[in-house]
Amino acid sequence: MADAAPTIEFSGVVHAFGDRTVLDGIDLTITEHRVGIIGANGSGKSTLARMINGLVTPDAGTVTVNGLDVRKNKRRVRRDVGFIFSDPDRQIIMPTVAEDIELSLSRTVADRDERRRRTRAVLADFGLDDHADQPSHLLSGGQKQLLALAAVMVIGPSILVADEPTTMLDLRNSLMLHETFARLDEQLVVLTHDLDMLADFDRVIVLDRCRVVADDAPEPAITHYRALMRR
Ligand SMILES: Nc1ncnc2c1ncn2[C@@H]1O[C@H](COP(=O)(O)OP(=O)(O)OP(=O)(O)O)[C@@H](O)[C@H]1O
Ligand SMILES: [Mg+2]
Repeated sequence: MADAAPTIEFSGVVHAFGDRTVLDGIDLTITEHRVGIIGANGSGKSTLARMINGLVTPDAGTVTVNGLDVRKNKRRVRRDVGFIFSDPDRQIIMPTVAEDIELSLSRTVADRDERRRRTRAVLADFGLDDHADQPSHLLSGGQKQLLALAAVMVIGPSILVADEPTTMLDLRNSLMLHETFARLDEQLVVLTHDLDMLADFDRVIVLDRCRVVADDAPEPAITHYRALMRR
């Protein structure tokens, strides 16, 4: 675990794609352990999340992670921030499941046997041990989502940003992921439409029309969001 609670800070963040403003004046200081971000389709959640590791750079304002401006410190920040995309095909690279995890470890673990040991362990943690030598592209959608998560977690980031990590998971694997998240020491930022998942989170942020419209404990934030969506 990191020495101090990780801090993600958005200050005066504005962003547009072409003439479509997506985020307009976002100010957030995120230090809580488990934080959910919710909002309608197209409300800017993924755009906001991608700013945390520099995949999107804001037009105005700054995003910092542990005091480092993401724009100026992308490599360093990407070591601290693990990012899981909603589409796992975007981050599965290697032909087999075990090779994909071993590739993740190749930068940090020099010893091959140690890499293999850690790979087996993380695959077991995520229920993929029977699939170690299977071609990655033949995994089911949910299994791919678990593999993408395993490949990120095995490196030990201090912050995990997960963009809709349960979309393809069945109930068993959703519950498994929820338990995995509950056990994590790492700071967790989850974007999701799976509102049940957020019930025991520390904070839930609601985005709507380019802005933060609620920022609260899960229950009041989700109640606000439900009312907003029924309008
Ligand atoms: N690379 C891009 N180029 C142009 N427009 C984009 C790009 N990425 C996102 N957008 C637009 O920005 C807006 C916000 O998209 P974003 O993906 O952040 O929404 P979201 O809240 O994650 O939605 P969802 O719940 O559907 O995942 C949308 O209108 C989208 O069309
Ligand atoms: Mg999204």
